[in-house]
Amino acid sequence: MLAVGRQTMKELMNTYNPIDLLFGGMEKLGPGSNVHTLNVLRLLPKEQFHVIVDAGCGAGRQTMVLAKELGTLVHAVDSYEPFLNDLTRRAKSAGIEHLVETHCMDMKDIPGVFPHIDLLWSEGAAYNIGFPNALTIWASAINEGGFAVVSELSWLRDQVPDAVREFFFSGYPDMQSIQQNLAVAANAGYGVLTTYTLPKDAWVKGYYDLLEPRAQALIDHPDSSVRDFAVETIKEIEIFKHSEDSYGYVFYVLQRAYR
Ligand SMILES: C[S@@+](CC[C@H](N)C(=O)[O-])C[C@H]1O[C@@H](n2cnc3c(N)ncnc32)[C@H](O)[C@@H]1O
Repeated sequence: MLAVGRQTMKELMNTYNPIDLLFGGMEKLGPGSNVHTLNVLRLLPKEQFHVIVDAGCGAGRQTMVLAKELGTLVHAVDSYEPFLNDLTRRAKSAGIEHLVETHCMDMKDIPGVFPHIDLLWSEGAAYNIGFPNALTIWASAINEGGFAVVSELSWLRDQVPDAVREFFFSGYPDMQSIQQNLAVAANAGYGVLTTYTLPKDAWVKGYYDLLEPRAQALIDHPDSSVRDFAVETIKEIEIFKHSEDSYGYVFYVLQRAYR
């Protein structure tokens, strides 16, 4: 999914849409799983929230988990309508359409639409507007004592294989260590409750294991933007295989400070 950040959605929307070709119909659009979403949810010291927003929800895997577990309406925000349509279909077939409301909009505009949030959830999406920027923008909309649970690609140790460092130097130069991200959260007006790092199998099962053969099948596609997207995805997966645990997806479990 990092490849998406390199090209704007508009650039990708041509005759052949690489996003649909590669990700169409997938439930997981990034690393994660229902079990880990639940594990993280249970780290919060509260179980009831009035206003819940899932920022960059994609096809809504985690939206459905939150809605089912909390039994509360979840506002699912994403800028790509086909993903939201998938979520609507899934919510209907699970019989929880009354607990999911989709909003096709930019997640940077969340404060204007949802000015009083009790729980802001975002898995693998904040990087699209920059993690520090996302935390700062959303802080203005989260009630005092409310929560933000935001996952972000993070360096896990200082020793990083050269190929990995090079890949992220161009692919995601803004990636920070956990300590640096904790400082970012504190500066943006949050207290840190805890962090939770996804294990490697959450990257593979239902995500890279589906994405890799899809990308392989597209490397000779007639459209160059599709080929480039496929090649970049395969490279990302290869880098992951040789990562030596140098990076990972980390949930930052945050509480909006009392003003
Ligand atoms: C890596 S996917 C993660 C989706 C989902 N949270 C998951 O884990 O399966 C990132 C999502 O962010 C969405 N996105 C990217 N930029 C956005 C923006 N500025 N506003 C809202 N959504 C955005 C993309 O459409 C995509 O669905």
